[in-house]
Amino acid sequence: MYRIAVLISGSGSNLQALFDAQDVGDLGAAEINLVVSDRADAYGLQRALQRDVAAAHIPLPPTPAGSDRRATRAAWEARLAAVVSAFQPDLVVLAGFMRILSPAFLQHFPDRVINQHPALLPSDGGETVMTSTGLRIPALRGAHVVDDALRLGLSMTGCTVHRVTPRVDDGPILAQAEIPILPADDAHSLHERIKTAERQLIVQVVRQLATSSPLTAQG
Ligand code: GRF
Repeated sequence: MYRIAVLISGSGSNLQALFDAQDVGDLGAAEINLVVSDRADAYGLQRALQRDVAAAHIPLPPTPAGSDRRATRAAWEARLAAVVSAFQPDLVVLAGFMRILSPAFLQHFPDRVINQHPALLPSDGGETVMTSTGLRIPALRGAHVVDDALRLGLSMTGCTVHRVTPRVDDGPILAQAEIPILPADDAHSLHERIKTAERQLIVQVVRQLATSSPLTAQG
């Protein structure tokens, strides 16, 4: 069995795509054992509970006046790492998890954390990306990249699944898809098209990692 923990902050449509793939045997021996959200209202938690998959809400608490924000964050990350570690995941998937995780968290799961990002990222950590048609566009990082793509008037964007390293929205790329931006697009229509591609991509990557894992090969 290849164990997967999924961290979310929102609707969890990518999580649902993974559940659906698991149900039809499309993830090999992989199984999602845990879903964690930093937000209580993340619908993905309900998706997990409806299937009797463990679901945890681990909120980042406000920092008390006069206290060190870093200490609050470190304590929250330690709690998060402890809960995720208890489920002994082979893979931790950040599927719309809107918090940045520090090296202290990542060292609990070396090379085991992957993230999906709703834009194209370069493989060299640089500031631009070359599309398949030879177009050079800015590498969009952060939490507002769908809006950024429209604001910059780009004709192309996309989505990326990558391994997570201490550098934000960086790390070895596992899969990407390009999405043309249409003249009539607004943030909603563009994000919906990106998410349709993201759901296919995350299933493809998780299947590949799960089936190529030495753990799985050895049974
Ligand atoms: C995805 O676009 C992901 O890349 C972004 O948040 C969205 C998550 O969507 N970071 P959902 O919660 O899986 O529906």
